[in-house]
Amino acid sequence: MTEKIIKSADRVKDHGEVFTPRRIVNLMLDQPEITAKINDLHATFLEPSAGEGAFLVELLKRKLQVALKRSKSVRAFNENSLIALSTLYGIEYLEDNVEMLVMNMQETFNREYETILQEKFGTKYNKNVETSAKVIIQSNMQQGDTLKGKTLSGEPIVFSEWQDLGGNPCKVQRTEYTFESILNQGESTGTVKNSYEQLDLFAPVDEKKEKPIVSYVPCKWSDIYLKETVIK
Ligand SMILES: C[S@@+](CC[C@H](N)C(=O)[O-])C[C@H]1O[C@@H](n2cnc3c(N)ncnc32)[C@H](O)[C@@H]1O
Repeated sequence: MTEKIIKSADRVKDHGEVFTPRRIVNLMLDQPEITAKINDLHATFLEPSAGEGAFLVELLKRKLQVALKRSKSVRAFNENSLIALSTLYGIEYLEDNVEMLVMNMQETFNREYETILQEKFGTKYNKNVETSAKVIIQSNMQQGDTLKGKTLSGEPIVFSEWQDLGGNPCKVQRTEYTFESILNQGESTGTVKNSYEQLDLFAPVDEKKEKPIVSYVPCKWSDIYLKETVIK
């Protein structure tokens, strides 16, 4: 099947929209520095002009394989697959691309997750994991202007940090921050060092500059879909 790289000449002119062919995506992700980060289950990736998810979808597939390697039980794989997904962030300006991005991420997660469960553990999917995956994807894939850090209606772009708290069962702390505050924190702490050495999106908690917007109750990874917030 031929890949569609360009949708229209106007979109190329107006938004620089040219999708990266799968072969090039794979070549880039095969670079040793990138592979090392993929192998770190908690390392975050941000695609600032995500399109329909050429890079994020492939990163998700690879990170789910890492999640599998780290999992000795179905429960561990359920947790690790959501941890892997939670590290992937995207911003895209055009609405139809964002719709495709969210759909591609959801379809990829469900397909790969279900196949691994079936083939490696001989069991069926957990509905709460897939519903929680949907919540993570909808939060991590944002429509907006990366350069301005704003949504199309002028509101700040907000991302959630999904902090793995460990434990048995493994828990997660979800906290929301504006994209702008995450970038500023990067500059001040050296977290975002330069274009070649961009490591973690979120600095340790005590280095965060701004107060979180919404704090959620720590919960099991598969209970993320409940979206239970802290009452102030
Ligand atoms: C060259 S394409 C790359 C898409 C994708 N990363 C890929 O490799 O297939 C650039 C994408 O950035 C989007 N874009 C352009 N300006 C943007 C902005 N200021 N903020 C967020 N996305 C933007 C376009 O709509 C387009 O989908």
